[in-house]
Amino acid sequence: MIEIVNLSRHFGQLTAIDDISFTVEAGEVLGFLGPNGAGKSTTMKMITGFLAPSSGSISVSGFDIGTQTIEAQKRIGYLPEGAPCYEDMNPLQFLGFIAAIRGFKGDEQQQKVAQVVTTMGLESVLTQKIETLSKGFKRRVGLAQAIIHNPEVLILDEPTDGLDPNQKHQVRNMIRSLSKDKIVIISTHILEEVTAVCTRATIIANGKIVSDCSPAELESKSRYAHAVTLHLTEQQSAATKLSELPGVSEVEVNEEGKLLTVLTEGGQSIYEQVNDLVRQESWQVDALYVEKGRLDEVFRKITEEVV
Ligand SMILES: Nc1ncnc2c1ncn2[C@@H]1O[C@H](COP(=O)(O)OP(=O)(O)OP(=O)(O)O)[C@@H](O)[C@H]1O
Ligand SMILES: [Mg+2]
Repeated sequence: MIEIVNLSRHFGQLTAIDDISFTVEAGEVLGFLGPNGAGKSTTMKMITGFLAPSSGSISVSGFDIGTQTIEAQKRIGYLPEGAPCYEDMNPLQFLGFIAAIRGFKGDEQQQKVAQVVTTMGLESVLTQKIETLSKGFKRRVGLAQAIIHNPEVLILDEPTDGLDPNQKHQVRNMIRSLSKDKIVIISTHILEEVTAVCTRATIIANGKIVSDCSPAELESKSRYAHAVTLHLTEQQSAATKLSELPGVSEVEVNEEGKLLTVLTEGGQSIYEQVNDLVRQESWQVDALYVEKGRLDEVFRKITEEVV
């Protein structure tokens, strides 16, 4: 478990983190969201003991990061923002070095390196200097060093930034497969990533936590939750008829009248009524679906309220 109590961090006049408290339990994958400069990386740096708080406390698996730093850090894998590595080493040397300082020797050290090389698909770049690797491969090396000791707690600062779609998929699968008994905190600007891998979405803005719930709950706060979208094969003047259905608050029209979204008052379900109307009017549709809610809209609403 991670326990954060009344955590603050100032940089001169700036309050980067403003008295935040939260706990994360084993099995949780927490997605840390927030606009640029919100305080995500600063919080992660403090959880991992890389940066000291101005006030407040953090304990990781029962160890205080300020006073029992090494015990806490043994249990943490950390991918810092931008995935910094020793650039003049090659991945084989670098991962060997990380395995050694994590306490592995001999066969076990080699085995640990081999394992993460396979997981992160690093075979083709093992002897190439890290400084000459592409951005995505550098990030893979960074991820490999974070998981090499099979830590209880994984803190990943924008882990999929710069990865190709296949690697993004791979990393998300890796995070999902890890999460059974571990704590994972990932920061990301990719909102779909939160729905794809996280059990919890925590939004930070201006150094304060402004929302903390499950991704599904977050989606349900959207004005599009339960809205019905239909895609007409041909342009039709369907909006007026749709807006006359009982309970409809608004009909949004896009793509020159072909894409319509029907929003309801209080977010009640309207699928049946829309479907009946489509049949009654013989509109040709190639898609008709109920929306879950749009995270980008909720994110904007929540974070803009704070500014
Ligand atoms: N060492 C530092 N000295 C001065 N200000 C700092 C320092 N580190 C962070 N800050 C400031 O603290 C605030 C929070 O920064 P942080 O890097 O935590 O944001 P973030 O949420 O990770 O943003 P991003 O999405 O851009 O990565 C910013 O205003 C940043 O400029
Ligand atoms: Mg950051």
